[in-house]
Amino acid sequence: MRILSGIQPSGKLHIGNFFGAMRQHLALQADHDGFYFIADYHAMTSNPAPAELATRTFEVAMDYLALGLDPKKTVFWRQSDVPEVTELAWILSCITPLGLLQRCTSYKDKVAQGLSPNHGLFAYPVLQAADILMFDSNLVPVGADQKQHIEVTRDIALKFNAQYGETFVVPEEQILKSVAVVPGLDGRKMSKSYNNTIEIFEPESNIKKKVMRIVTDSTPVEEPKDPQTCSIFALLRLAAEAEEIAEWEAKYLAGGVGYGTVKKRVVELLCEYFRPYRQRREELERDRDFVEDVLRDGARRARDVARTTMNRVRDAVGLGKVRNA
Ligand code: ADP
Ligand code: TRP
Repeated sequence: MRILSGIQPSGKLHIGNFFGAMRQHLALQADHDGFYFIADYHAMTSNPAPAELATRTFEVAMDYLALGLDPKKTVFWRQSDVPEVTELAWILSCITPLGLLQRCTSYKDKVAQGLSPNHGLFAYPVLQAADILMFDSNLVPVGADQKQHIEVTRDIALKFNAQYGETFVVPEEQILKSVAVVPGLDGRKMSKSYNNTIEIFEPESNIKKKVMRIVTDSTPVEEPKDPQTCSIFALLRLAAEAEEIAEWEAKYLAGGVGYGTVKKRVVELLCEYFRPYRQRREELERDRDFVEDVLRDGARRARDVARTTMNRVRDAVGLGKVRNA
């Protein structure tokens, strides 16, 4: 079963990205034929500074590798190293009804937030469809926020196959088992756009400062507290073992525990959780050539598949030389 997923290099990866998506991506490597890429073309829709785009892309690569992406098993590349995908996006654009894209909520949300949209943002789901269809992906593991984009991909694949003959595998989405949304430092969803994140690899002293500063309600120490609505408890739940989670839950309900005590434990748990990966991350930082080699090798393997697909697609739509009947 081939699985494929992309991650945008739109900022430093945070623990919401890890527990919400990356951890599951990495776990899926064991039993699947994995294709993972860093979606730098997609990130261009928000017009990053050139040096920043390249740097962030490379940092995401180091993060994934440090966290356990196995480049021997999984094909891992930088999207723009396989530019065939933009050709496929164009071909798919020509059969994609405008209404399908106008209905996309992630586009509508961004416009509602006051972002002045470029054509790339509008066409974003078509490029995503090209990513998925190019590699004959069976399964696309994504967060619930991406469900609609996978549905658009299926619609495009079905339409193409009906119009030009069976060409594409029609993929299924696999909505990642939601850890509940990881809350940020201000209690809203952790997101780089809210500036409320704990980055996976920021210094441990920063993690400590950030967690200790999380604003809590004013329930006195001795009173019972609700673990379900407490964002500190939500963070604890991510990194603690089941037994410890149950113990803290009981303490919350019984009263007598202060938020400061729980925060200290959250800091320890998060730092311990990421410590082995942090060491690997530092090694990769010192061996950038290795990371570049991994991406190059991934691009070569991805490009082999892409070329085969493009031959099939170009034939199907009538691009290129006249074929003998
Ligand atoms: P951001 O909101 O920081 O821009 P992205 O939208 O780039 O993050 O997220 C990439 C993936 O990480 C998404 O598929 C989403 O499922 C997951 N993710 C991001 N933030 C969270 C969060 N706070 N809780 C759970 N999952 C998250
Ligand atoms: N749109 C996805 C996100 O923001 C990233 C992405 C681009 C993607 N191409 C993809 C995900 C193909 C899955 C498959 O998270």
